[in-house]
Parts: sequence; C-alpha cells; structure tokens
Amino acid sequence: MRWTKFTIVGLVPSIHALLRFSCSQLVVERLDPLVNPGEKVSPHLHQIIGGNAFNVSMDPTIAPSDQATCTTCTFAEDFSNYWTAVMFFRARNGTFKRVPIKGNVNFEQSQGGMTVYYTPTLANGAVKKGSVTAFKKGFRMIIGNPTYRTEAEAKKFRQLTYTCLKDSMTRTGETLAFPTQPCPAGIMVNVRFPTCWDGTNLADSPDHMSHVAYPSSGTFESNGPCPSTHPVKIPQLFYEVVWDTTKFKDKSLWPEDGSQPFVWSFGDATGLGNHGDYIFGWKGDALQRAMDNNCNINCPTLKSQSIAEGNKCIQQQKVSENIDGWLSELPGGMMVTGLGGTPIA
Ligand SMILES: *[C@@H]1O[C@H](CO)[C@@H](O)[C@H](O)[C@H]1NC(C)=O
Ligand SMILES: *[C@@H]1O[C@H](CO)[C@@H](O)[C@H](O)[C@H]1NC(C)=O
Repeated sequence: MRWTKFTIVGLVPSIHALLRFSCSQLVVERLDPLVNPGEKVSPHLHQIIGGNAFNVSMDPTIAPSDQATCTTCTFAEDFSNYWTAVMFFRARNGTFKRVPIKGNVNFEQSQGGMTVYYTPTLANGAVKKGSVTAFKKGFRMIIGNPTYRTEAEAKKFRQLTYTCLKDSMTRTGETLAFPTQPCPAGIMVNVRFPTCWDGTNLADSPDHMSHVAYPSSGTFESNGPCPSTHPVKIPQLFYEVVWDTTKFKDKSLWPEDGSQPFVWSFGDATGLGNHGDYIFGWKGDALQRAMDNNCNINCPTLKSQSIAEGNKCIQQQKVSENIDGWLSELPGGMMVTGLGGTPIA
C-alpha cells in the first residue's frame, strides 16, 4: 500500500523516512551530457531540472555543486540534474504541440519540473541511523530505453509507468504504455530507478546502467532481494512528472482510429520507451545527512528554499530552436513509430 503512504505523506508529515521535494524546470532543450556528451545537440528533446551547472558535457570528477550558482530544487543544496523526455500531442493533421507540465500535489506553484523522491528504506522498515549509503560524487545512472516499443521489452523496466489521473491524488492503475483513454487531471509519468548497486563500479558504468539493477524478485517496495551481481541496496530515486494533457482530452481531437494521441519527443507513440536520467550533485554530504536524519518533507539539516526561489533558476537554451506552437515535426526530426498502438519489434 505504498501509494496510500505517499498520498498521506503528501499532506501530513509522517515519520516514514523519505525525501519528497519539488524541482522546477531549468531548461527544455536537446542536450544530453550522459548519452551524447560533448555533442552540441542530442537527438531528442529533454526537460531538465536541478542545478544550473547542467551542460553539454559534465566531467564526473567535478562536483556540480562547485560550478552551479542556483538550483530549481526546494532543497537548496541539491545541484543534481534530473531529466526525462518531453511529451507532445499529435494532432489529426500530423502537427505536434508540446504538453505543458503542472505542479504536483502541494507543489502547485512549481513552474514545470518534477517531484523527486529519495526513499532510503523498505515498506516496513525504520531506518537505522547511519545504515543507508547515499549516492556520492560522480554517481550517474539512466533507466529505460528509448528504442523500446513492445510491452515485453518495457517489462524489463517494470517500474517505469503512467498513472491516468482522475484527480491530482490518483495513485493507482499504473500502466507501462500511455493511457488509452483521456485522463481528466493529466498523465503522471513515474520513473523509479534501480535500488541495487554492484558495489564495485563506484559511480557509473559505460552504459550508465549496468552498475545498478532492480531487485531479483519483487520490488523495492516489497523488500525484494538484490541480485548477487548487485548486492548493495541503495536509496530509491523516483520522479513523478505531471503532464497537463487536459487541453487535449476532447476525443474529437484524437486519431480517427480511437488510439491515444500522445508521443514522446523521441518519436514513441506507445509510451513503452519511457526513460529517465540522473547526475548526482548534492553539495558535500548533504544527501547523506538527510538520509541519516530520517528527513521527510521538512528536513532541518538541509538548507531549503521556496518554490518561487527555485522557479527563478533558469538556464538559457544552448540549442536554440522552436519547441512551441504547432510544429510540423518533432524537434530533431524524430520519426514517430508505434502509432495506433502498433508494436514495433
Ligand atoms: C558549459 O561548458 C562550456 C564549455 O565547456 C563553458 O564555457 C561554460 O561556462 C559551461 N557553462 C556552465 C553553465 O557551466
Ligand atoms: C493542425 O491542427 C491543429 C489542432 O487542431 C491546429 O491548431 C493547427 O492550426 C493545424 N495546422 C495546420 C497546418 O493545419
């Protein structure tokens, strides 16, 4: 019943140790310092949140907190970068319109962005002080695969999902593919990162993925065991992104065959290529202190700032291109595949 817990946590501070905070949008552009480092343009569009050291390349030996001058996050010592792809509405005439992001429950003033969670423990467990190892300098990871268009593939990443919001509090009925019916309060995208670490590749691996793994059975929430290849439990990093699809809910705007109209910026009309990226950038031992102090929404050991303050931290696009209005093609000319729910192998 974890989702019930999250719902409660969203409204009433509880003793359950978990960081839940808001980070507004930093910039929306075609850059990806993890997958395409040094390339001035990445193939598809991203929405990026966090510290303003985000750049074309990000040297893992340099702490983002040493370079950033502001962050969009309400924990002011978090200069990490978190990003996902961008959702578009595809009209009947084949043009595309960027779907706006709205603030989550309790974070309504956030301009775009996401809600970020770090959960150090298990569904049942109290955290023993000092028992959780937080991510460290240079830690990076990616989860999901933008080329996936089948459910069998998407199941490898069983915790990348969509919630069709009946209202802002809906937390049940997660699906691996885009919702097939209009969602009255928008579509929440859930990106849960792996929680088991190989313990040897300290911070990263060449594919930014193989140093971490999901539990070998069950989930983090059900206290599933870590596989022997990745025996060390790490906190669960989790993004919620609330896409405000309400402007597009009229079914007369949807494709004539009745299929759903949303596509990812990487051309995925199925939703099964959902993915997210992370570059750790907390200042000093701030994240470890938060983990050690059973922090929750409020965390006295961390420096906080208001959502309004976070909204002011904005980066100019380095890749200058039109991403708004009715676009004749997706930014970067990404081709759309999987239309009409047709699986592409
Ligand atoms: C981004 O990288 C460029 C080139 O390496 C550098 O000149 C610039 O200062 C960096 N920007 C930020 C915000 O760190
Ligand atoms: C395409 O459809 C959208 C949504 O109905 C409309 O706003 C736009 O003007 C249309 N564009 C063209 C070129 O017909």
